[in-house]
Amino acid sequence: MQNEWVLITGASSGIGLEFARLFATKKFDLVLHGRNEARLNEISRELTAKHSVRVKVLVRDLAQPAAASKIFAELEKERIPVSILVNNAGFGAGKFFAQEQLQVCTDMVETNITALIELTHLFLKPMLARKSGKILNVASTAAFQPGPKMAVYYASKAFVFSFSNALANELDGSGVTVTTLCPGPTRTEFHARAGATRSEKTIGKWMMTAEEVARAGYNGLMKGKRNVVPGLVNKIGVALAKIAPTRLSTAAARKVMEG
Ligand SMILES: NC(=O)c1ccc[n+]([C@@H]2O[C@H](COP(=O)([O-])OP(=O)(O)OC[C@H]3O[C@@H](n4cnc5c(N)ncnc54)[C@H](OP(=O)(O)O)[C@@H]3O)[C@@H](O)[C@H]2O)c1
Repeated sequence: MQNEWVLITGASSGIGLEFARLFATKKFDLVLHGRNEARLNEISRELTAKHSVRVKVLVRDLAQPAAASKIFAELEKERIPVSILVNNAGFGAGKFFAQEQLQVCTDMVETNITALIELTHLFLKPMLARKSGKILNVASTAAFQPGPKMAVYYASKAFVFSFSNALANELDGSGVTVTTLCPGPTRTEFHARAGATRSEKTIGKWMMTAEEVARAGYNGLMKGKRNVVPGLVNKIGVALAKIAPTRLSTAAARKVMEG
């Protein structure tokens, strides 16, 4: 029994679900967050039965104002101290910006950026007071170049990468670490939800499983690493994106999106 609580946002499917399974095998108690209550309850039953861990389910839409502060208040009220925060929830949308609904774009910014900042700020304070804690923010290899047909999504992940690395630097020596996980294409519901199934056809053979990605993130988090890019192909892609002229890397990203 670890007697330590992990809060995982977006734990109802994909990478977040695999994080939940992995932390449960290591005997962490879990706060599982998402919007799909039925799925979260099913996962809760699975993990409680298999691993005898405590599981609390939290249902909140992170695109709604004050979602993060409501999550924090609920856990405070129940005296659940969060030792590890995994900011994983996020989504994309695969259309040209001018054709996308504005509401979808602003919901994406609320979920991928604002809620991540708010949760980090809220849970960081008690971690700093305890001089111990770990934060894992899920960015993407999308952080390293602009992404036509997913412009807001790519930009949101560039934000997560930049913010998380600056924060990791600020927290050096505080007892709290910040790890940024940058997965490349991963086989989850993300692509279908984003309406980006053409890109899935192009990159399908390079896709990692959610389990592989979560394991790489978990190992990096536990070692206190600043950045984790899972998989050799993704590491090469990031290295190339860093040295290529922006116009070229942007054009390459568009080719992938257009299948
Ligand atoms: N799959 C990839 O290729 C890939 C690559 C790089 C980075 N990522 C990142 O990895 C993270 C996990 O994505 P995934 O691939 O595992 O996709 P996924 O299977 O679609 O899972 C996304 C999770 O985020 C939650 N979520 C989305 N919008 C939310 C909102 N407004 N409020 C609350 N929860 C919300 C979903 O909860 P509900 O279903 O309960 O609503 C779900 O649990 C995301 O940040 C994504 O950007 C994915």
